[in-house]
Amino acid sequence: MTQEELFKKLVAHSKEYGFIFPSSEIYDGLSAVYDYGQLGVELKNNIKRYWWDFMVKLHENIVGIDSAIFMHPRIWEASGHVGAFNDPLIDNKDSKKRYRADVLIEDWLAKQDEKIDKEIAKARKRFGDNFDEEKFRTTNERVLDIVKKRDEMHGRMVEALNNNDLGALRQIILDCEIVCPISGTRNWTEVRQFNLMFETKLGAAADGSNTIYLRPETAQGIFVNFLNVQKTGRMKIPFGIAQIGKAFRNEIVARQFIFRMREFEQMEMQFFVRPGEELKWFADWKEARMKWHRALGFGDAKYRFHDHDKLAHYANAATDIEFEFPFGFKEVEGIHSRTDFDLGNHQKFSGKKIQYFDHETGESYVPYVIETSIGVDRMVLQVLSASYEEEKLENGEERLVMHFPPALAPIKAAVLPLIKKDGLPELAHEIKDMLKLDHTIQYDEKDSIGKRYRRQDAIGTPFCITVDHQSLEDRTVTLRHRDSMEQERVAIADLPRIIGEEVSLRKLFTKL
Ligand code: GAP
Repeated sequence: MTQEELFKKLVAHSKEYGFIFPSSEIYDGLSAVYDYGQLGVELKNNIKRYWWDFMVKLHENIVGIDSAIFMHPRIWEASGHVGAFNDPLIDNKDSKKRYRADVLIEDWLAKQDEKIDKEIAKARKRFGDNFDEEKFRTTNERVLDIVKKRDEMHGRMVEALNNNDLGALRQIILDCEIVCPISGTRNWTEVRQFNLMFETKLGAAADGSNTIYLRPETAQGIFVNFLNVQKTGRMKIPFGIAQIGKAFRNEIVARQFIFRMREFEQMEMQFFVRPGEELKWFADWKEARMKWHRALGFGDAKYRFHDHDKLAHYANAATDIEFEFPFGFKEVEGIHSRTDFDLGNHQKFSGKKIQYFDHETGESYVPYVIETSIGVDRMVLQVLSASYEEEKLENGEERLVMHFPPALAPIKAAVLPLIKKDGLPELAHEIKDMLKLDHTIQYDEKDSIGKRYRRQDAIGTPFCITVDHQSLEDRTVTLRHRDSMEQERVAIADLPRIIGEEVSLRKLFTKL
């Protein structure tokens, strides 16, 4: 199965089992907007809990807030979003389709890498065991030509983005002979900037004075509350403020399911530090965040850092944590050293002094900030795609199983009476009622036990508890483990401990 087919199946599976639905589906949907179904919302809540507890519970010097989506419009001038939160757009005159110019070039760069990989694969086939990849890469003329052109175009793109040179971006598209995927032509317009913020109106004033924006990031709600939290929480630097909430961007290239949406959720933490110490903290947070991802157990090779080519004007270091989705390595989280840009600008624009008095040094200053910013929906997609498996069993059958880390699984256990009579349903309900005080539990008595196991595998339930006639006699049940499919006989009284240990976040946290 190709990665593309796998991704299509994952999207279909997510809908079929109630994880994710297209928004407004009975009205034919709304582009790049999605709804979470009954299982999706549980998965998403568990991911948020994993992040929140890591930040706020495990770090004594991090506290959380929940700020409003509507904010004073001057905030977005101070943050630079009104002036510079733009994407460079280009239209194809024949198909009338609109693209992000930088994305067209990035896709072209990725194609060059694919070409190189193909050359290497061909040569490996030809030379067999004697193949020396390093030598081939550094001597094969065709590969060297591709690498040279790719590096040249990459360098030009970085320069054009850094200089905001829209003409230069267009010229790269022409020089790379990039065609519109729909019309197949190179009939391009000029490149121009497009602001990604959604506008709306507050109250009823008739003039434009009441225009506000739906926040494009949650971070600014943290910055403008810096003094409130620092003073009321008696926080001492270094300290952090964490927040989870919705953000909105009028994305031009909205694609790849929930990877790029117009309404999405972020989990952001701003860590305030002494000026001059920010790069040490940047390195620490890079490591801490990568560990948090890897603790999920999807394999270390699935993650990599990608340092930014283009640093935002306020940042002095920035990196992304990328995950290998079925459509390639893509960003799930950004870690940025944002200097004193945001607090400094809010001080300027609001006219209010935003400073911290450091008792240790006897100085007042505007703190520097390290930001960790991760998309909840991209984490959901990461967990869905890493967990999905069509597994061939020893008996020749196939099962579809979601290998969710137990702490993230939407349903922790299913209680299944072997048959619908003889008092088995009553005992099964008793077990469900005991376990539901701590966990999300399903009760299912329909169809054969094999079919019921498959249904639970498909939604990633770590445990199935089967109640049979022996259970009535000795109060034991069969406990089936999702991944190994092993079954063991355990006492009903031991279920809360066995399940509790396996599905607890503590299991993930002890790896950090
Ligand atoms: N405050 C910094 C900030 O917002 P960003 O790199 O623009 O930085 C942070 O966004 C994270 O938010 C990204 O790594 C990604 O996971 C998520 N994100 C951004 N735009 C998104 C979109 N349109 N749809 C889904 N997630 C998005």
